[in-house]
Amino acid sequence: MTCRIAVFGTGYLGATHAACMAELGHEVLGVDIDEAKLASLQAGQVPFYEPGLQKLLQKNLKSGRLRFTNSYQEAADFAQAHFLAVGTPQREGEFGADLTYVDAVIEKLAPLLRQAAIIYGKSTVPVGTAARLGQRVRKIAPAGNAIEVAWNPEFLREGHAIQDTLHPDRLVLGVDPERRGPAEVLAREIYAELLAEEIPFLVTDLATAELVKTAANSFLATKISFINAIAEVCEAAGADVTELADAIGYDDRIGRKFLNAGIGFGGGCLPKDIRAFMARAGELGADQALTFLREVDNINMRRRTRMVELAREACGSLLGARVAVLGAAFKPESDDVRDSPALNVAGQIQLQGAAVNVYDPKAMQNSQALFPTLNYSDSALKACVGADVVLVLTEWSEFKELDPVELNGIVREKRIIDGRNCLDPAKWRNAGWLYRGLGRSS
Ligand code: UDX
Repeated sequence: MTCRIAVFGTGYLGATHAACMAELGHEVLGVDIDEAKLASLQAGQVPFYEPGLQKLLQKNLKSGRLRFTNSYQEAADFAQAHFLAVGTPQREGEFGADLTYVDAVIEKLAPLLRQAAIIYGKSTVPVGTAARLGQRVRKIAPAGNAIEVAWNPEFLREGHAIQDTLHPDRLVLGVDPERRGPAEVLAREIYAELLAEEIPFLVTDLATAELVKTAANSFLATKISFINAIAEVCEAAGADVTELADAIGYDDRIGRKFLNAGIGFGGGCLPKDIRAFMARAGELGADQALTFLREVDNINMRRRTRMVELAREACGSLLGARVAVLGAAFKPESDDVRDSPALNVAGQIQLQGAAVNVYDPKAMQNSQALFPTLNYSDSALKACVGADVVLVLTEWSEFKELDPVELNGIVREKRIIDGRNCLDPAKWRNAGWLYRGLGRSS
């Protein structure tokens, strides 16, 4: 069955969700207040890099199933299902999440809702938000009790957003058990194609659905910091963390995924989500339960400092050194530089007196906007000209394929530090380079 859907917020999450829902055959309206973003999307241009999304957007614009608007009235009159996909960034100077955008959508949309509708939250929010929004909406919407708020957290990874939306590991839907309405029935219609693939569909209460998301991201962050803590011990003991990760990863209970040691996690989700989770647990009187996440955060931030130290060790001093930085995005297949460990390291090294040349296949524009004082080169080879040390800080396949022999005549010193343990050490050493990996003996 075709459903009429509005998606509020057209960033990574919202633009992907809107295009994917249209791909499933639904009539979709993407809603935003940012005119430039809307104009770009309506013209078939995705304003950020996400593999495959531009094609999917263009295909569904052409089919007429997908449109964009700034009109909340149009969305309220049109949709049976309203998806909230706006950002919940970290509050400035605090750990907690900033719910300004979520609240703003509700305050603007609810007074326009005259008929029964369901609001599905997708944004990552502190537990308790869905219940609060439900009460608020029913108070200010003309349709009152006919409005249901459900929570349908999103688990998509940047770089794999379409695959993760159309073929997720699971679907989670939180509903209010005390006022169970048609949210589950409509969600089953919206996701019928996914359910036919036997993707697990878990219906929970609102609080559980909200917590599923923060718990999942906390687990992933903990797994990364675990292996990075072990990397510190490996460095001290002269062991190799990548071999160790392979060996423990064969145990099904542990698994090899998310055990890549390096300069740690960044991006628009994991760092701010674990902090918001700690803040919320504190408000609920359960802060002790999550104190370990503070350590997860500390271990993660220490990796960036460790990378700077290794660069300094390699050059003797960073003052006057030339440092090539390959990679600026927080991970490959993305142009996102929010809380990017790579850019953070590049910035620290420059502040300590080195001349830093950065190259990234996709994130140049975003990096220049955030760190305009770094030098930027338009290829990996150019970034390496005259370098005293080359740092690989995002594991783009382009960097894995670099030929050390080709770089031999370009750099000043043949030293490479692999901040993501993504290169083949033997290839570099055989070409006469000094190779260092994080958590691996020199
Ligand atoms: C994450 C979650 O994976 C996703 O389910 C959620 O919906 C949003 O947050 P994303 O931010 O796109 O997705 O990135 P992810 O692939 O999880 O990587 C996060 C960071 O961890 C990156 O900086 C990555 O480089 C780093 N990482 C990942 C490691 O350092 N080691 C690993 O083994 C894996």
